[in-house]
Amino acid sequence: MTRHFLRDDDLSPVEQDEVLTLAQQLSTDRFGHQPLAGPQTVAVIFDKTSTRTRISFAVGISELGGVPLIIDAQTSQLGRGEPIADTARVLDRQVGAIVWRTAGQVRIDEMAGASRVPVINALTDEFHPCQILADLLTVRQHKGKTAGLKLVYLGDGANNMAHSYLLGGVTAGMHVVIGSPAEYQPDAAILAKAVEIAATTGGSAGWTADPLEAVDGADVVATDTWVSMGQEFEAEQREAPFVPYAVTEQLMGKAAADAIVLHCLPAYRGKEIDAAVIDGPQSVVWDEAENRLHAQKALLSWLLARNFTA
Ligand code: CP
Ligand code: NVA
Repeated sequence: MTRHFLRDDDLSPVEQDEVLTLAQQLSTDRFGHQPLAGPQTVAVIFDKTSTRTRISFAVGISELGGVPLIIDAQTSQLGRGEPIADTARVLDRQVGAIVWRTAGQVRIDEMAGASRVPVINALTDEFHPCQILADLLTVRQHKGKTAGLKLVYLGDGANNMAHSYLLGGVTAGMHVVIGSPAEYQPDAAILAKAVEIAATTGGSAGWTADPLEAVDGADVVATDTWVSMGQEFEAEQREAPFVPYAVTEQLMGKAAADAIVLHCLPAYRGKEIDAAVIDGPQSVVWDEAENRLHAQKALLSWLLARNFTA
């Protein structure tokens, strides 16, 4: 069976720990690990724009000894409607893994269903699991652990980041609280799945409409844009409901005194986060952005090693 990474709970708690432990090693030894030397090619396909994901996969695959093949869907036949499964069948005879940023999760599920090589989710409308691996690595680096810590995400509780914090956070044994307007709360099935995983890891998962209650005593405070890619046409209506959930200095006063602040970026200062917070002493967003590199290198190494021995 080919192992894919399509959503955060595709890694068990033990497996996630293995990937994060390797990522931590790679963060201090960038060039000592070359499992893709040969070299193997990894296809990285974008249906949506990207800075961090594009760069970190390209750099990471190169550092692992492989060759990154970066494809913008609009310049490929995929962008003209060639079936996803046919694309998978063409790619999997030539590349070692397929990384894809696309819209609906059903699309990446279809790619994985037809591919004999690992497929990695580089962001869908529903999940952003590579980002959460980087975020958990950042928490490990700054807090020495993840288990037992309170992670609060404020903003659009129905977007990819909120869903991935729920699943990935509880897998790491964290207490995850989503604070969002009621009309933008997490998908009920994903929240239920997070609660189920939390029961096995000692973590917890919950949602509240009260931003002050959410952030109370938080060890990690995270947010994301209120307008995700593909929602630009709703930009105006996606402002007023979220204002109470903005990560301001005042709100940070409710978190633990040594709380750290995460943002996957790109950030909109004065909207979901104040400049004083993202550019202030509690912010670890640049470490977080760098950690995309280490986390994804570890994930690729882990998945490919598993695939060859499986
Ligand atoms: N955080 C993140 O995924 O950034 P990009 O959209 O720039 O890849
Ligand atoms: N929720 C954002 C994340 C960007 C990295 C989006 O999907 O646009």
